[in-house]
Amino acid sequence: MEGRYCFSGISPFFVFEVQELGIIFMSDYNLTVGLGRRSYPIFIEDGAMEKIGFDLARRNIASRYVVIADDHVAKLYGSTLMTTLGNSGIKAELLTFPRGEVSKNLQVFSRLSSRLAQLGIDRTSGIIALGGGVTGDLAGFLAASYMRGIPFVQVPTTLLSQVDSSVGGKTGVDIPEGKNLVGAFYQPRAVYIDTAVLITLPVEELLGGIAEVIKYGVIWDYEFYCFMERNLDAILALEPSVIQQMVHSCCAIKAEVVAKDEREADLRRILNFGHTIGHAVEAASDYSLIHGHAVAIGMVAALRISVASGLCKRKEAGRVATLIHAFGLPTEIPEDMDRKRIKAYIKTDKKSVAGSVHYILPTSIGSVIISNEVTEEQVDTVLQR
Ligand code: GLY
Repeated sequence: MEGRYCFSGISPFFVFEVQELGIIFMSDYNLTVGLGRRSYPIFIEDGAMEKIGFDLARRNIASRYVVIADDHVAKLYGSTLMTTLGNSGIKAELLTFPRGEVSKNLQVFSRLSSRLAQLGIDRTSGIIALGGGVTGDLAGFLAASYMRGIPFVQVPTTLLSQVDSSVGGKTGVDIPEGKNLVGAFYQPRAVYIDTAVLITLPVEELLGGIAEVIKYGVIWDYEFYCFMERNLDAILALEPSVIQQMVHSCCAIKAEVVAKDEREADLRRILNFGHTIGHAVEAASDYSLIHGHAVAIGMVAALRISVASGLCKRKEAGRVATLIHAFGLPTEIPEDMDRKRIKAYIKTDKKSVAGSVHYILPTSIGSVIISNEVTEEQVDTVLQR
């Protein structure tokens, strides 16, 4: 990535012109999440990381920033981001925490809050979340609560966070009783997605993100689903134009859904397709299964419930399972996994309302319904397969 955009030594007059003309991000893939006065842009570009400083400098979001990243991402991209901020005259500090879901808790939250206070961070300052879903959720929740809310910006570096968690304002931490049980809806002020960083993502994590990408096609957009089928090889080879188009399509769907139902009163629930059984399988694996892989299994299970309920044609469900498999993702619950544990986790699904568990069931590729009428027997049948 080094040297892709060589801004060092550039004339300040040129920078001024570029900023004034608003042409820092010229990509065809930019979007807006339409939430009235809280609307925000999503910039999607191969190499976006190196332009963030220039763009933030003209946005006037905060007087200074704290970049929050895990120790792994900090090593990979910390200096690139700090350099672009520094080159644009933005004062910024980098705070790190140990990598992994184990850090998404109130202890790390408390430690980071203290560091913000020690650094003299006030309401005119902002937080930049640099990393995957854990970082975005943790840093976002920190931004939502520190001094009752300071601005924050998302710079997602995993496919999962680029297509899902960085957009829509879900923030939070885990507690021993469950994942994401403490948190807030708090929207970022901007999202900068550099698709070039996916090159350093371990393949298993890339595939985990692909499961969420397939999800968007199934719940919302048949044409996009076909795009995924047509471009399987290019996606796995991380071909830049295909990846940018893919991330753009997902973010466009997510932005539309979030703009219509920010706080998941109704429509936003469709983004949980595959997650009811998926989350339970993930928990029953003691989190040894990657989230997206568990979601892939959960999507196939939900499709089977759909077929058994007469909502979806077997052929359509088979077509989705074939694509999930073709990407190298699992479609079946591991044989040795305790079914009783999975069932127990389904019952404690935090998205259940008044004790009734909701399932997102496809009626065809590109369209789903939200159902609370799935019977225990139907669930047993798919768990026992
Ligand atoms: N990840 C689902 C949502 O943001 O609603």
